Formats: sequence, structure tokens, C-alpha cells
Amino acid sequence: MNFEFTEEQLMIKQAAKDFARTELLPGVIERDNTATFPAEQIKKLGELGFLGMMTSPDYDGGGMDTISYVLAMEEISKIDSSASVVMSVNNSLVCYGLEHYGTEKQKEKYLKPLARGEIIGAFALSEPEAGSDATHQRTTAEDKGDYYLLNGIKNWITSGKNASVYIVFAQTDLSKRHKGINALIVEKGMKGFEIGAKEDKMGMRGSDTTSLMFNDVKVPKANRIGDNGFGFSLAMKTLNGGRIGIAAQALGIAQGALDLALAYSKERKTFGKQIIDHQAIAFKLSDMEAMIESARLLILKAAWLKDQGKDFTHASALAKLVAAENAMKVTTEAVQIHGGYGYVKEYHVERLMRDAKLTQIYEGTSEIQKIVISRGLLKR
Ligand code: CAA
Repeated sequence: MNFEFTEEQLMIKQAAKDFARTELLPGVIERDNTATFPAEQIKKLGELGFLGMMTSPDYDGGGMDTISYVLAMEEISKIDSSASVVMSVNNSLVCYGLEHYGTEKQKEKYLKPLARGEIIGAFALSEPEAGSDATHQRTTAEDKGDYYLLNGIKNWITSGKNASVYIVFAQTDLSKRHKGINALIVEKGMKGFEIGAKEDKMGMRGSDTTSLMFNDVKVPKANRIGDNGFGFSLAMKTLNGGRIGIAAQALGIAQGALDLALAYSKERKTFGKQIIDHQAIAFKLSDMEAMIESARLLILKAAWLKDQGKDFTHASALAKLVAAENAMKVTTEAVQIHGGYGYVKEYHVERLMRDAKLTQIYEGTSEIQKIVISRGLLKR
């Protein structure tokens, strides 16, 4: 077992760290206040290759491993999760799905510009009545010969407004339950496709979460990813990888909060000494470190399994569960350590706490991760 990163992995981590400090940190509070999409910053992330990190160079991606992706996600998320969620969805859900299951034509047309970061993608699975219960898709894709007629509504779609390409899941044959679901590539601007207003969220306020409405949208058959009825399997397989990305995001949020709390604890004095010298604070910091390190090891294990081509379903659910739950606890403690300062925006930790909450909810709630983990246990 080797716990050391390669030189290349460390370089990628440093590049992401530098980018986060110089490009994301200035303005992060303002963008959060005004719920502004980090458009310029996402464009630069794309130019640097962070939006198609794991995609093969054959399709204009960076050809990097999942460990490198985790390291970069952590660094970006320490500063700005509204940017890292765009990066995560584009890499793990959209590029991955197209690269592994798309046709050569789809890869040429959609994957290459997505991996180059010229456009961004969205993943449209959730619906008003099918969030966690994803097999019960109400959106329909009626088979009309050489096209599908798409009708329905999707909810909570990351990058809903700013994406150009959407992987949309829809039911073609209800009698086949999840085996009747298809994954279709929908382009912005297709007739009958409308995008709802941006949700006014508690955290990750910069990222654009919207609903999507499909009203008799004609989607060419050539835009179906995989065989007929493969859609649900595609969703689950891509989400397994997506959960590593969100776990790394939660890790970054937690590490960012610990870094701030530690710096503050060394600076702030009460009762005649630095607050880190009070056992009440020192114990909190130690607990935070323990929670972060345990999440980090689970995430790296899941990433390593994925890179080795081994089954990582159980490992990614464990990583996401622990990282998200711990991020919530760590950020709450970071606010507590900062006292009144933690409750105001200038000190960043309240934003990290709001952002952490979302990691327990999206790409499968913590409860969904427990379902995946317990089903894995049952099979043992
Ligand atoms: N990996 C691979 N395959 C999986 C799987 C996984 N993690 N989970 C289930 N499957 C497969 C099963 O093996 C089964 O396949 P077969 O029929 O071939 O055997 C099939 O999927 C159906 O499985 P179940 O009967 O177990 O399905 P279920 O209805 O009990 O639900 C579930 C399983 C795990 C709860 C699943 O519905 C799920 O993961 N739900 C959460 C969905 C989710 O994460 N939504 C978030 C959307 S993305 C997002 O957040 C938006 C964004 O923009 C970021």
C-alpha cells in the first residue's frame, strides 16, 4: 500500500490551489451574496483543463486519474463550491457518461467541447416526484421511429441555465420499470425545451440550479446514449463516480473550515491566552482533523478502486456518506470556534457551513448512501 502521491498528482493539486486562491477567492463572498454564477472563473477552469480532467486525450480531455481529480476538487472546494459543483457534474456525470457509453459521433460532437471546457453539461435525472426514488421517472420519451418525443419536468438541475448539453433521463416503456428508461442528449435551444428560473438556495448560491421543462421535444434517436433501456443503469454507474466528486467537495469544504478555524484559534486570545491553548478549542480542532482524515482516506480508496477498474459502488457511497456528514459537523464547529465572527459573512465559515449542507442532499442524500451501503452488506 502506497500513501504517497505522484509528482504529477501533486502538481495538479498545486495548480488547483493556486487557481482557487488567485481566481476564486476574490469575489467569492460577493458572488454568494448576489447568487452570481462564476462564469468567468468556469471559463478559465475549462481553459486549464479542469472540466474534462479524466476524459481521455483522444477526446480532448486531460487523461488524469481519479486521485488527481479528487485532489483538485478538494482545493477548489476549499474556496468556492459553486464553482466545484459545476466542475464535478461536468467531469463525473456528463463527460464520464458520454466517454464510456456514447457513440463515436456523440463523443465527437458533444464530449470533445465539453472536455475542452468550451461548453458545460448538465445531468437531468431528478424530478418533482422522483428524486431519491429515481426509477419512477415521470418524464416520457415516446419512441417515434427516428426520434423520441420528450415530455416532462426535471428539478434541481445543476448548471440548468448555463449548460449547453443535457443528459436527460426519461421513461420509454413503463411496463419495464427501470429497464424502460433511456438517457438522451438534449441540446439547449431544441424546440419545446424551456429552462426554469434559478433556485434561490441556502448554499452554493452561485451555481445555477433550475428546473427543465420538455414539451414535445423531438430528440433524434442518434442522441440516445447506450442501448434501448440502458438509461437507469447509466445513471447509477455515473452517479457512483459522481459521489466520489461530491465527497471530495465535502472534504474540501471541511478542510477549508478547519484551516480557517485553526488560523483563528492561533490569533484570537481570550482569558490571557490563544484560544487554541484552551482545551475546549483544542479538542474541537482534534475532532475536526480526525473527521477530515477519515473522510479523506475513504475518498482516496474509492478513487483508487475506480482507477484500478475495480467495483467502487460500496466505497463511493461510504466516502460520500462520511465526507458529507463530517463536513456538516466540521463546518458547524468552525463557526462555533469563531464565535460571533463565525456568524458573519466576512469570515467565510458560515458560507462553508451552508455549502456543506448540500453535500448531504445532492447526488444521493446520506440516506440513499446508507441504502447503497446496506445493500452491499446484504450481498456479503
Ligand atoms: N450502481 C450500479 N447499479 C445500481 C446501483 C449502483 N449504485 N444502484 C442500483 N443499481 C442497479 C441495480 O443493480 C438494479 O439493476 P438490475 O435490475 O439490472 O439488477 C437497478 O439499478 C435497479 O435497482 P433497484 O431495484 O435496487 O432500485 P431502487 O428503486 O431500489 O433504487 C437506489 C435504488 C439506490 C435508491 C437508486 O434509485 C438511487 O441511487 N437513487 C438516488 C438517485 C440520486 O442520486 N439522485 C441524484 C441525482 S443527480 C443530482 O443530484 C443532480 C445534480 O445536478 C448534481
